[in-house]
Amino acid sequence: MSARVLDSLPADDRLHAVVRVGLHAHGWAGRQGAPGGTPWDADAYGLSGVDGYVQAQPATQSAVLQRCAADQLEEALHIENIGMAYAARMLLGSDTIEERQLYATIAADEALHHAALTPFVPRLEAAGTPAPFLSLLERLVVEGDRATRLLVVQVVLEGWGMDHYRGLARRCADPTLAAVLTRIVDDEARHHGSGVILAPRLPAGDAAVDVLTSFLDMVRVGPQAVLAALIGCVGPMSRPERIAALSQLRTEDHAGAQLLLIRRLLEKAGATAIVAALHSRGRFRPLTAEEAA
Ligand SMILES: [Fe+2]
Ligand SMILES: [Fe+2]
Repeated sequence: MSARVLDSLPADDRLHAVVRVGLHAHGWAGRQGAPGGTPWDADAYGLSGVDGYVQAQPATQSAVLQRCAADQLEEALHIENIGMAYAARMLLGSDTIEERQLYATIAADEALHHAALTPFVPRLEAAGTPAPFLSLLERLVVEGDRATRLLVVQVVLEGWGMDHYRGLARRCADPTLAAVLTRIVDDEARHHGSGVILAPRLPAGDAAVDVLTSFLDMVRVGPQAVLAALIGCVGPMSRPERIAALSQLRTEDHAGAQLLLIRRLLEKAGATAIVAALHSRGRFRPLTAEEAA
């Protein structure tokens, strides 16, 4: 089983029409919006205080913002894709009618989110190795136990997603995309809320600590994708320049806020033993710019 985004039928396949009718029935407004442009400004990525960005030519600055937006939207699309597979796995393991109903509706929501975001995604990576964060998620959905999946995806990821999408919606210059993101926030709040109800009924164990350790390590390094987008457009940077850029991106504050949010989400779901285990592994400490460069 794979949740790869490019496992798609050719555009002229007859199945597309049937899927479209189904999505419309669930409230999909149809294909709206266009890729490209810069839906978010430099402030949204913390780039306005970064020398390497401020000193670049306007065309280069615009390329950096386009790349950051593309990365963000592409990652969101992958997550929605994995979300459909997650809901399907959870649906199959349900013990009650209500759980089946819950996961069937979550699957429909994620299918709709995927369709609504697709027109805005400027490029799709050719099928290859997905980013480590997405590989971790995919592996969890396919191989993880139910309690770990529930805690990591539905409590942590959907809770983090609410916050993330809300910020993106608020700062988005494209009203059509902002409306899509706002709709997603409302749905993710429901998905996350149900996770908070169900997680204490199925407490997660050591496997969740291991998955979350890997996940938090990816958060602790701060806005590496923004740095990579900057380097990709302005050219290579020396280690001191990377340290300066990460420090100007306020990597420690940025990662610290995300780590605190994740910790609160876990506590909200009653996962105090897991929080304690992660804390004793030092996983709620953000890396400094020197460590992250
Ligand atoms: Fe979603
Ligand atoms: Fe969701």
